[in-house]
Amino acid sequence: MSKTIIVSNRLPVKIYADDGGFNIVTSEGGLATGLGSVYRSGDNVWLGWPGIEVADEAQQEQVKQKLAEKSLVPVFLSADEISGYYEGFSNEILWPIFHYYASTYSNYKQSNWEYYSAVNKKFMAAVMQIAEPGDTIWIHDYQLLLLPGLIRAEQPDISIGFFLHIPFPSFEMFRLIPWRSELIEGMLGADLVGFHTFDDASHFINAATRLLPYNSSSNIITVDDRPVVVESFPMGIDDEKYAALTTTERVKQEAEHLKETFKDKKLILCIDRLDYSKGILQRLQAFEMLLEAHPEYREKVVLHMIVVPSRDGVPQYKELKQNIDRKVGDINARHRTIDWSPVNYFYRAFPIETLSALYHTADICLVTPMRDGMNLVSKEYVASRTQETGVLILSEMAGASKELIDAIIVNPSNINSMAKAMVKALNMPVFEQRRRMKLMRQVVSKFNIKHWVRIFMESIKEVKQMQQSMRSR
Ligand code: G6P
Repeated sequence: MSKTIIVSNRLPVKIYADDGGFNIVTSEGGLATGLGSVYRSGDNVWLGWPGIEVADEAQQEQVKQKLAEKSLVPVFLSADEISGYYEGFSNEILWPIFHYYASTYSNYKQSNWEYYSAVNKKFMAAVMQIAEPGDTIWIHDYQLLLLPGLIRAEQPDISIGFFLHIPFPSFEMFRLIPWRSELIEGMLGADLVGFHTFDDASHFINAATRLLPYNSSSNIITVDDRPVVVESFPMGIDDEKYAALTTTERVKQEAEHLKETFKDKKLILCIDRLDYSKGILQRLQAFEMLLEAHPEYREKVVLHMIVVPSRDGVPQYKELKQNIDRKVGDINARHRTIDWSPVNYFYRAFPIETLSALYHTADICLVTPMRDGMNLVSKEYVASRTQETGVLILSEMAGASKELIDAIIVNPSNINSMAKAMVKALNMPVFEQRRRMKLMRQVVSKFNIKHWVRIFMESIKEVKQMQQSMRSR
């Protein structure tokens, strides 16, 4: 029987070294939830890096066995590979360029490229150990751009889908990368290349046809007689899970506690991974502008800001952390009173129940990335608003803004307009909140994660059928 192999840089688990052994906790992330039904059924598996360095062979075997019980297959990376492939090439070259941060953030070291190629080959070898003709391989994200091409060279007929979770930049940005043609060639090893938005898909087609001698017609690029379909598949969330969470005892209790704590205040919520693409500093500036221009909101509004630690081995992330700490300290020091701190800042991860209580309670959710492939926080907020009130302020640079058009849409570089959007949100009448929230909830529920997985998998099959019928003509 044929199977599906999911491949991503990171496995959907967190592994902790614990008393000489290892403890494995399954992740609550959107992709993990969405693909849960896929990789846990039949002979299907998910292959990826376990997220920590396990150098000792006996320990690797131990981790491997523990993961096998969960249909997971580890690809172990050495400290040098983590540094060159993950931190160096993926997060100091691809991540900044794909999020439109040129030069200052990109570190085009040849050795990083070599590690990136070598680790993609390592993933290919791991896939080839389990792949058989007739299987479907679904590869995820920018850390594995070369993998589709590497697998195609080994197994010319196998079905390969590739999905990019971050933006694909315009050609003028993408062309800056010294290894641009190799990256496109790698992605074109897939039968189906998916993006969150139509713009990302067109940027990719544009880059592919300008850099390589392939023709395209509409959304199909022909690579040596093999049609590759390029399509947008906006990713959704498990909306029912977020709605159901709000009815659990624990979430209800936490929500009650929040309501009591902030009873005479409006709560503005933001939740992000620590990342310069998330616009955290710009958002703080806008909040400060609100406090300065509107003294009537002093002691009446709180910015509850959760920043989840991320990629702290990459220098720009460490620097950003210091800048955020300083900015929050400065705002609180200037504006706080004995009874009130304007910014409640947390630098850590929280359990999903706490996030759910916050989403359910917050009057406003502020999601203002400078660039974001999709942004699932915005959708999680909407899914948690079972009471149908609440206001979402959303950056036009997030893929989600193409779907959640009833949010207050802002340009995150325009600090003034973000401050005005907060005033508008703070004063939005309840009937208007409901009108907008209902419409957004319909979108989030209709185009949920199950729908996303289903249409992507069906599309791979359709592309394969199209290729076969073309060959038999
Ligand atoms: C983004 C990327 C993912 C990545 C995640 C967390 O959402 O698209 O591929 O896994 O960030 O980043 P990390 O570097 O910790 O895996």
